[in-house]
Amino acid sequence: MNYYEAIFKRKSFHFFIGGEPTTEEDLKLVNNFIKEVKPLYDDIKTEIIVVPEKETTCHRGADYCVLFYSETKGEYLRNIGYIGEQIDLYLNSIGLGALWFGIGKPKEVRNNGLEYVIMLAFKRMPVNNFRKDMFKSKRKLLEEIWSGESIDDVSNIVRFAPSACNTQPWYVENKNNELFIYRYKKPGKRGIMPINQVMYYNRIDIGIFLFILETCLTNKNIVFERTLMNDESTAEIEKTLVAVYKI
Ligand SMILES: Cc1cc2nc3c(=O)[nH]c(=O)nc-3n(C[C@H](O)[C@H](O)[C@H](O)COP(=O)(O)O)c2cc1C
Repeated sequence: MNYYEAIFKRKSFHFFIGGEPTTEEDLKLVNNFIKEVKPLYDDIKTEIIVVPEKETTCHRGADYCVLFYSETKGEYLRNIGYIGEQIDLYLNSIGLGALWFGIGKPKEVRNNGLEYVIMLAFKRMPVNNFRKDMFKSKRKLLEEIWSGESIDDVSNIVRFAPSACNTQPWYVENKNNELFIYRYKKPGKRGIMPINQVMYYNRIDIGIFLFILETCLTNKNIVFERTLMNDESTAEIEKTLVAVYKI
């Protein structure tokens, strides 16, 4: 699985218009892949299942939804973002259009004692409907998310990680080959999401971002040593340190 290549073609299918039926073979591939994903935290229990879209409140024309359940401890939201982005990129890589769907709810909000966190809807979509030029998609400028020396094929690519409402709540400082990663919230900026939702989704977004960052570093054969920090601050704080990568 080449995650790096998949970053360039992935996009959110907000509506699955003009898709083709997802096949039994597709489902088998997805279910097998789910068994292979690597968590950010080994000690947080998770359960990932695939159900028909009609068993959820998602009505975007997808066929299925990947449901993420987790123990609700520590950085479980970040963990789900990190795991889920592997699945998002995998789906895109095999021609299954996908959508992180934060506002969706499944029938069962509890599964084996674990809590429902978020879903990814998907459906087989025509090859032509995937992203052709990632650089045309709407994102913050490099200088808005990165300070210090930029890294070719990394700094300018991580910008395109997906996030809830495209909030892009991240900031990187490169200080002598140590990357300080922050969850970032522009002071005073009020988006369309209520504050408790921003806190929830932006923690998932950070997990997504860390997976994309690691994918870009690995693609360049840059070896890194990762230190993860707990994120206990409120969304009102401008910069919360969430991880340091020594490269
Ligand atoms: C955690 C998360 C939750 C999201 N929730 C929704 C949602 O509820 N509804 C929706 O239409 N899009 C949702 N999105 C998709 C984002 O709007 C989309 O990723 C962002 O605008 C960037 O666009 P792109 O994914 O096409 O690059 C979500 C994305 C993430 C990462």
